Amino acid sequence: MIIAIDGPAASGKGTLGKRLAAHYGLRHLDTGLLYRAVAKAMLDAGAPLADEAAAAAAARALDLSSLDEQTLKTETLGEAASIVSAYPAVRAALLDLQRKFAACPPGAVLDGRDIGTVICPDAEVKIFVTAAPEVRARRRLVELRARGEPADEASVLADIRRRDERDRTRAAAPLVPAADAHLLDTTHLDIDAVFRAAVAIVEAARGG
Ligand code: DC
Repeated sequence: MIIAIDGPAASGKGTLGKRLAAHYGLRHLDTGLLYRAVAKAMLDAGAPLADEAAAAAAARALDLSSLDEQTLKTETLGEAASIVSAYPAVRAALLDLQRKFAACPPGAVLDGRDIGTVICPDAEVKIFVTAAPEVRARRRLVELRARGEPADEASVLADIRRRDERDRTRAAAPLVPAADAHLLDTTHLDIDAVFRAAVAIVEAARGG
């Protein structure tokens, strides 16, 4: 079974993806980490983020086994990832790797922006997670503070809005729900309620 989860920044799709994967015995890939790792490689090499060819080369050189969530989940890398992920050459370089990951038995949960639309258009279950930007900003703030990153609510909210806008309006694989995705608005739900709602969606899709 392949479960595709898409949604905007800080919508809770990563946490949901992990829990669904554990529940169904599937592998999990947070595809945002791929774009964050490309951005990190660029910044580490001192390459300008505007250099699409260098970003594509970094994407081709990416090693899935070396993704370190702790190092990659910073605000700076989120913003930089949003920039490099708009390049078609970067997306093309990461396509096969994601599809191969999804196709390996017993299946997988992938979360990102274009899983249901581009990477796994035939996924058995597609969930599009949303939440009000203010709620996402507050959740992200709690995460950042727990990791000791200095952050204030207004700048986190501004960052989320800027990233939403860029991810939704880019030409290559923009953030849009697949036509057959189930919408899950988590604005008023805690993580347990989100998980239960998602399991209900998966069970209904499997039953049907
Ligand atoms: O989910 P995240 O915040 O870790 O993603 C960081 C950026 O990477 C996001 O702003 C857009 C990009 N991204 C993408 O374009 N496609 C994906 N499947 C996942 C992330």
